[in-house]
Amino acid sequence: MKLGVNIDHIAVLREARKIADPNPLDALGIVKRAGADQITIHLREDRRHIHDQDAIDIIKHSPLPVNLECAMAPEILDIVCELQPHRVTLVPEKREEVTTEGGLNVLGDNEKLAQTIQRLQAYEIEVSLFIDPCLESVKAAKNLGAEWIEFHTGKYANIYAMLYGGLINTHHSISELELSRTKLTEMLEEELTNLRVLSCDAMEMELKVAAGHGLNYQNVKAIAEIETIEELNIGQSIIARSIWTGLEQAIIDMRTLLL
Ligand code: PXP
Repeated sequence: MKLGVNIDHIAVLREARKIADPNPLDALGIVKRAGADQITIHLREDRRHIHDQDAIDIIKHSPLPVNLECAMAPEILDIVCELQPHRVTLVPEKREEVTTEGGLNVLGDNEKLAQTIQRLQAYEIEVSLFIDPCLESVKAAKNLGAEWIEFHTGKYANIYAMLYGGLINTHHSISELELSRTKLTEMLEEELTNLRVLSCDAMEMELKVAAGHGLNYQNVKAIAEIETIEELNIGQSIIARSIWTGLEQAIIDMRTLLL
């Protein structure tokens, strides 16, 4: 299981003061030393954390492949094509959201998405689509020509949090808060089975499979045991723990759970 560390949250802290410290660039060597496999950053349209200069510097200096998450905004795609990160993960983006709330809509008319994928691939950038775990979306991602899919694990993370305690991570608010433990246990197992089956299906379609969102030190193990998932991208929980343990140890702790 490969680990991508999402370092946006370092820039979130910097932006709280609008100064130059802490600089996400300083994380690169530490992330590599701790045994992670990839740097992940999200260049949002509103540049609320990672700025263009961060993306330029990180892609230039990273000793690990960089996975750049972004929406299909023309201005962002122009920058991305110029920067040529190793991989681009296309995500949906809403200005008012705190974090990516759901998967990309890959169903229906997706001419624009198909063209975007082709454009990125022409620059020799691997393309991944961040999708909700459902079969139609996996098939659509394949038909669109993406090399990777990343399953949005927010629903899994939320059910886990409702069952075992912890923070609810995304918009999957649902009235499940009032559900019984038996029902929640069933739902968690269903969600895991869904991820297991779909990642097998995806692999048979020759798609590479990643997963992420809301994964933390409590809930990651069951996801890490799914052999057909090749990579996890994790941000919030690692950076949160790094306040107490330092970034290197926080990544080592997460790596240990993925073995
Ligand atoms: N993968 C994708 C595509 C994301 O958008 C995010 C959130 O930026 C993550 C992974 C990491 O999520 P988290 O910060 O909850 O670990």
